[in-house]
Amino acid sequence: MLCMDNCGISDPNGPMIYKGNYHLFYQYNPEGAVWGNIAWGHSTSKDLINWTPHPAAISPDTPSDIKGCWSGSATILSNGKPVIVYTGNSSQNQQLQNLAMPKNLSDPNLIEWIKPSYNPLMAPTQQNMINAYSFRDPTTAWLGRDGRWRLIVGNKIGRRGRALLFRSRDFVHWTQAKHPLYSKRGTGMWECPDFYPVSTRGEDGVDTSKVGKGVKHVLKASINDGLFDSYAIGTYNLGRDVFVPEKGSLRLDSKMRYDHGKFYASKTFFDSSTKRRVLWGWINESTDAAIDKSKGWSGLQAIPRKIWLHKSGNQLVQWPVKEIEKLRKGKVISSAKELRGGSVLDISGVTASQADVEISFEISTFKNVEVLEPSLTDPQEICSHGSSKGGVGPFGLLVLASKDIQEHTAVYFRVFKAKTRYVVLMCSDQSRSSLNLDYDKPMYGAFVDVDPVKEKLSLRTLIDRSIVESFGGEGKACITARVYPSLAIDGGAHLYAFNNGTDSVKISKLAAWSMKAAQVN
Ligand code: FRU
Repeated sequence: MLCMDNCGISDPNGPMIYKGNYHLFYQYNPEGAVWGNIAWGHSTSKDLINWTPHPAAISPDTPSDIKGCWSGSATILSNGKPVIVYTGNSSQNQQLQNLAMPKNLSDPNLIEWIKPSYNPLMAPTQQNMINAYSFRDPTTAWLGRDGRWRLIVGNKIGRRGRALLFRSRDFVHWTQAKHPLYSKRGTGMWECPDFYPVSTRGEDGVDTSKVGKGVKHVLKASINDGLFDSYAIGTYNLGRDVFVPEKGSLRLDSKMRYDHGKFYASKTFFDSSTKRRVLWGWINESTDAAIDKSKGWSGLQAIPRKIWLHKSGNQLVQWPVKEIEKLRKGKVISSAKELRGGSVLDISGVTASQADVEISFEISTFKNVEVLEPSLTDPQEICSHGSSKGGVGPFGLLVLASKDIQEHTAVYFRVFKAKTRYVVLMCSDQSRSSLNLDYDKPMYGAFVDVDPVKEKLSLRTLIDRSIVESFGGEGKACITARVYPSLAIDGGAHLYAFNNGTDSVKISKLAAWSMKAAQVN
C-alpha cells in the first residue's frame, strides 16, 4: 500500500478488523512526499490486499495534537467498540497520548473520528519526570483479570529504552505503573512498541489480552538508533506486571529482528476472523528527499504477514498472508534439477517485475564448504563481502535483473562450516540493483536457523517493481529491500536462479507466478 499524489506515508497505525472490514491507518503527509503535517491516513479492505482510501481519520486540530497526530494503536473494547490511542505533538512539542472514538459505530468503514474534550489521557509532568520529547506510540491495550486495561508507551531515560506501563478501568483515567513493563540499558529511544501473546501450540494467533497457559509473550521495540524492529520472547509476570525475557537474556538487539532489511515502526493486530496475528511494517525509500519529491510519493506498507512462534519456541516466523496468492497468475514450475557451480538458470515465462517465487535447495555435498572464521559473527558484514565465488553457495535468485545480468538484486544463501555445525547465511545484495540512480544500495544479511544436512533451504521472494521481500527458511529470516532498476523494469526485467559456489546444489522445488496488480490507494 502506498499513497499516490504528492504525499508520503510511514508507520502503520491502528490496524484492526471491525464488522468484517480490515482497517489500516498510517502516518500520512497529505501535502508532500516528505515527512511533515502528520495526520492519520485511513484505508479499508475486505481481504488485506485490495484497499479503498478514505479521508484522513485524525488530523492535527486540537491543542494536544496541533503539531502532528503521531503513531498509536486501536483497541476493541469489551463491548465491541473500537477506540484509538495516539500520540499528539503539542504546540510546545510535548508528546501527549490522546483518545479518538468513532462517530458512528454502525458505519463499517468508520470514516469519522471524534476526539473527547478531556484529552490528553497521559502527559509528561513534573511529578512523573517523563521526558516530553520521548514519550510516544501507545500500543493496543490488553485487559487484565483485575478489570483494568493496560497499555505501554515508548520512552527513554538517558540511553535506557523503556516501555512505560499505564493502567485504567474506564479508558479515560490512566495511572502510570511504578515500574516500566520492561526497560534496557543502552538501547536508546523505543518507538512503536508492541506487546502481545503468541501461542506455544501452533500457528494460530491469540487475542491481545490472553494470558496464562499455552502462551508466551513478545515485546517488540523499534530501535530508533538503528532503524530496526527488534523483539524478545518471554513471559508476562502478572503478579509484578512486568515482562520477563526468556533465560534472562532480553535480546532487543540487532540479531532478533523481524526483518534484516528495511522494515520499521511495525505493528501487529489479532485478526479474530481468521485466528491469526498479522504484522504490518513500513518500508521507506532508499532515495533522497529530492528524488522522492520529484516522484511525488514516498514510503509504503509491506505486504501484511502472519506472525507466530516457531515450534522451537526460540524465534518468531513470518509469512505473507495467504490472500496475496489471489494475485498469482501464470504459474511456471520446474522439475527438480541440478544447479551446477557457476551456472545460471533463466526462469522465463513470468512477469519478472511483479512476481512471487518459491524455490528450495537441497545440498548433497559439502566438499568445498568454506570455514566460518569465529571472528565473523555479524551476518551483514559477511554479506558485504559480496556474492562472489564460494564453496557451498552463494546460490539463490537474481531478481529485477537486466537480460545480461549487469543490473540485478541477488538474494541468496551461503553455507559455512563452524566448529560443530553448518551455518546458513542469507543475504540480499542491492549493490548492483541499478546502473543509473545514485541511492543507498546496502547489503543485508541474516543467519537462518536451519540444518542444511537434514532440511531443505527454502526461499520465497515477492518482487514488486522497487520492492523485494524475501523469506528464508520458511519465514525464519526475512529481508526487505528497496531498489530502483534502470534496465530491469517492466518487460526488461528478468528472473534467474544462480549458483556461484563450487559445489552443485539441487533445486528441489521451483514455482514462480506473475502477480496481478492489487487495488492500492
Ligand atoms: C516512527 C515515528 C514514531 C512517531 C512517528 C511520527 O517512525 O518516529 O515514533 O510517532 O514516527 O511520524
